[in-house]
Order: sequence, then structure tokens, then C-alpha cells
Amino acid sequence: MDNQKTILVTGGAGFIGSHTVKLLLEQGYGVLVLDNLSSGHASAVKSQLIVGDLADKGLLGKIFSEYEIHAVIHFAGSLIVEESVLMPGKYFENNVSNGLNLLNAMTAAGVRKMIFSSTAAVYGEPLQATIDENHPKLPINPYGETKLMFEKILKWYAQAHDLSSVSLRYFNASGAHPDGSLGEDKKIITHLIPRVLRVANRQQEVLQIYGNDYPTFDGTCVRDFVHVCDLAQAHILALNKLESEQGNFVYNVATGVGHTVAEVVNAAMEITKKMIPIEYAPRRSGDPAALVADPAKIKTELGFEPQYSDLNTIISTSWAWHKKLFEREKQKVLSLIENK
Ligand code: UFG
Repeated sequence: MDNQKTILVTGGAGFIGSHTVKLLLEQGYGVLVLDNLSSGHASAVKSQLIVGDLADKGLLGKIFSEYEIHAVIHFAGSLIVEESVLMPGKYFENNVSNGLNLLNAMTAAGVRKMIFSSTAAVYGEPLQATIDENHPKLPINPYGETKLMFEKILKWYAQAHDLSSVSLRYFNASGAHPDGSLGEDKKIITHLIPRVLRVANRQQEVLQIYGNDYPTFDGTCVRDFVHVCDLAQAHILALNKLESEQGNFVYNVATGVGHTVAEVVNAAMEITKKMIPIEYAPRRSGDPAALVADPAKIKTELGFEPQYSDLNTIISTSWAWHKKLFEREKQKVLSLIENK
């Protein structure tokens, strides 16, 4: 008899989703991924994959009637801050409206556990040095707004439909799997570390640092980088929480340690042994000077202890992964040239 618990993972082909799926499988869960592959990759999915969209209510109904789903981990959504400012409709539709389709389908089928991918962007401009979960939630872009709206929806669904949930507010997701099998592979590269590594590998000439006049010790922004494998582990801990308790919970997932952009560049030069030319550019709109979490709540309540989130491990695992990606890109270009 198969008494394995099956977890439906939306967005399981993406960066954090694929690492979480791998860990779920290693922990003995059954996993079903639903992903529209708009930014994820089928090759990153180590479990069964259904290619489909959360806008498709018929598909959702079918999934919940055909499979015995124990809980849902909901990663699927749009997540580029700058894009959200230019195209708010896309964000409200994907992150709120399509998310509601998922909630309605799961509650109709009697599935009452959800882990939700939220973000530090729900806080907006930090009002204090480290941000705990009670910090005011005043998002400054549609991305953060849509994630906060969904957190609130979860609270009302808890009351009305007995839905238990854990919202995990990620700080800066980074790094790659130490076994080299998974990593960040976005079509649109906006994140700092992948860009730094592109410059190290000469795919890009120079790294623009957005602002060196922030009130931080070297003038560049400070961020709390958390390794994707530690993020994946936080989802397992969150699932465990919902096995023993019902309710509506919210946690920061971060280390509580901040690094400046300049520190990241210096560490990357040391690890890659490559020169990384920089130039200072104007501040990017919507960037808070410092975003550092107070992670006390997840540590004490869920026993979260980051294992991989020191800057060296983050950059070296990311470098190993990106070197593979760069090689793949090179081979693609070479075969295009050969076939001309
Ligand atoms: N940066 C540069 N140059 C670049 C890219 C980034 O100087 O080429 C700087 C940014 O200005 C920022 C820092 O590096 O100060 C980190 O930028 P990222 O784009 O890597 O990450 P963000 O902090 O902007 O945002 C990330 C996620 C969001 C999430 C947020 C929460 O992309 O989804 O973390 O902490 F909301």
C-alpha cells in the first residue's frame, strides 16, 4: 500500500521550487508539479510534471479530483519588482486572481494545508535595522502588494474554510544546489549574484552598481542573502508545522546577516579569481537601502538553522552552476554557427 503523502507544488520548475521538490523527494514525499514553464524549466523537475496554468480552473478541478493531494506548496507567480511597476495587471492576475483559483479548487476538494511563497517586499521601506514579522507592511511596488494581498486572503480562508497555511517571506534567495544539479536559470537576469558572475565570466563587460550614496557603511545597498537549499528546508519545516498545528502562520526566511553589494562583488572576485569591473550607476527605483531580517521567529518556532547561507557557500555554489550554464550557452552558439 502506498501511504506516501503527495504534495502539489505549483511553480516547481522554478528556482526555489525545483530545489524544494528535490528535497521533498529525498524526504520521501510524493510530488506533483504544476508549472506553465513561463520562466521555469521542465529539466529542473525531478518528479511528475503537469504543464498548465493556474488560470485554467478546469485543469485545477481535474488535478484535485484525480490525485489525493495532502498539501499544496504554492510558488507559481510573477516576481520581477521593476516589471510589476510597469505591468501591475499581470501581477494582480497571476499572483492574486490565479492564486484564488488554486485556493478555491483545493478547498472545494477538502485540501486544507498550504505553504505560500511570500517575500520581504511586503514590508516596503524598512523602518528599523532588522525586520521582524510585525514590522508594518507597506509595500512600495505591485509585486509586494500582491503577495501581501494573498497572505491576507489566506487569513480569511482560514476562518471560512479551515485552511491552514504558512507564508514564508523570503529575503534574497541565492546560491545553487551543492551537487551541481540545480540552480538559478532565469530568462531575464535581474538579480545581483548572477549578474556579478556573468561579469566574472566575461558574458557582460561591467557590473553596474545601482547607487553608492546609501546610508550604509560603504554606500552600497545591504541585503540578507539566504541560500536556496536553506529556503527549501524551510518549506519542509513549514509542512511539519502544519502536521501538528492548525492556523495561519507567517515567517521571515533569512539569516539576519546583511552584506553590501560591494562586499558581494569582492567576495565573488576572491572565489572566482576573476576581475569584476564595476561602475557606479544611479539608484534603481524601489530599492531600499538595507533589507535585513530578524529571523528569530522561524528559528525558535520551526527550528530553522541555515546550513549553506554564508556568503562563500552562496557564491561558490552559484559559480559552479553558472559555469555550467555559460558552457551550455557557448555550445548552443557554436552549434548554431556550425549549422549555418
Ligand atoms: N544590484 C546592483 N546591480 C545589479 C543588480 C542588482 O547594484 O546589476 C543591487 C540592487 O540595486 C540591490 C541589490 O543589488 O541593492 C540586490 O538586488 P537584487 O535584484 O539581487 O535583489 P532585490 O533585493 O532587489 O530583490 C530580491 C528579489 C525580490 C524580493 C527581494 C526581497 O528579487 O523579489 O529580494 O528581499 F522582494
